[in-house]
Order: sequence, then structure tokens, then C-alpha cells
Amino acid sequence: MNKAGDELSPELIKGWTQVAAGNQNMTASVHTIRIANATDAAAVSCLLEVSYTALLPAFYTDTVMAQILPLITKANPLLLNSGMFYVATAGRGNVVGCGGWSIRAPKIGVRMNSQGNIRHFATHPDWLRRGIGRDILHRCVKEARAQKIERLNCYSALGAEPFYGANGFLAIKQIDVPLTDEFSFPATLMYHELS
Ligand SMILES: CC(C)(COP(=O)(O)OP(=O)(O)OC[C@H]1O[C@@H](n2cnc3c(N)ncnc32)[C@H](O)[C@@H]1OP(=O)(O)O)[C@@H](O)C(=O)NCCC(=O)NCCS
Repeated sequence: MNKAGDELSPELIKGWTQVAAGNQNMTASVHTIRIANATDAAAVSCLLEVSYTALLPAFYTDTVMAQILPLITKANPLLLNSGMFYVATAGRGNVVGCGGWSIRAPKIGVRMNSQGNIRHFATHPDWLRRGIGRDILHRCVKEARAQKIERLNCYSALGAEPFYGANGFLAIKQIDVPLTDEFSFPATLMYHELS
């Protein structure tokens, strides 16, 4: 069983073998994107913890990691129930990716009806670079366009800029997103014009 909890079925092994062989077309065949719901809370929290713990330390100091990890690794019930948050599942339904969008900005809470905000993207470290994040992000963009949203904003974690940049986002500036009165999250403000 791998870290994502997948049993190594012949189908999955065949898929990974195809990846190793450079067949990019198989990526869509081993994960499924669906709208999240409240029953995904534990799996999403687990994914956020595994992904952020493994991947963010390359870009944040130990001190910052110790401060922010407990604050950013809990699934947000409002997002989970919004119909605008997605999970990628693989194997027997294991959650290997997540992400979504909201009209209300995180923490700051400002609502601008013409603008949306990208929220809580994470891919399991064992499932990176298979198009999971891209598929979820494209779903967000499609839904935002359908709702006449003109611009998607994103507080990109340091290190995630190339991912958002490869998917239509432009960087504006470095910012500190307040998480509590004491701690903030160093990030890059990015945006994607949809109109
Ligand atoms: C950012 C993250 C969600 C990307 O997930 P992913 O499923 O691996 O991304 P994808 O496979 O869909 O990548 C799509 C494209 O984005 C770009 N990209 C993704 N990760 C990249 C990286 N580490 N470096 C450079 N480009 C990257 C590439 O162009 C990639 O296409 P390619 O693999 O064909 O070259 C993932 O790295 C992650 O969970 N990081 C830690 C948590 C985090 O920072 N989340 C963002 C919070 S704002």
C-alpha cells in the first residue's frame, strides 16, 4: 500500500508503468475529479497535512512552518459544503488532490461579486505532476466563468507560483496573509483575468 492508501491494483501499476514510459495520456485515466462534501473532511485534512508537511518546507523556514501548519491543515467546512470545492480521487476513492474557489476572500473576508478566490489546493506528494492540480484548477476556472466571474485571485504558497503560472495566473506581489493576530502566511498574490 502506498502513502495515499492505494492498494497496488494491476490497473494502477499499469498506469504508473505508462507514466514511466512517457505516456502523458494516462494521467486522466487514474484520477477522477468530483465536488467535495462534508464527508470528505477527514480525508481533505489528512491530504493537506501530508502535502503541506512534505512540500512547503522547501520554501518556508522551520519557524514559519511550526506556526502555520496547524492553521492551514484543517479542511474548511464552509468550502467543503460550498459546491465550489473539489477532490481528486484515485484507486478505491482515496483523496489524492483537492482545491476550489470562493467568492469571499480567505481571512480578509471581502466579498466582491465579480471576483473569485482560489482556495486550499494540494496534491498528495505521491501524485505530483500528473495533472491533478491542473484538472481541479481548470474546473474552478470553468465554473467561475459560468458564474460571470471576471477575475480569480490567488494567494499562492511560495513554490506554487510555477503551477499557477502554467495555468494562466500572473504574479502581482509578495504579501503576508494574516492567519491569526500573531501569524501570517508569506505568499504571492496572483490573478487570472477571465473576461
Ligand atoms: C501546487 C500543487 C497543488 C500542484 O499540483 P500538481 O497536481 O502536481 O500539478 P499538475 O501536475 O497539475 O501541474 C500542472 C502544471 O503546473 C506546472 N507545475 C506544477 N508543479 C510544478 C513545479 N513544482 N515546478 C514547476 N512547474 C510546476 C507544470 O507546468 C505542470 O505541467 P507539467 O507537469 O506537464 O510540466 C502541488 O505541487 C502541491 O500540492 N504543492 C504543495 C501545496 C501548495 O503549495 N499548494 C498551493 C497552495 S496556494
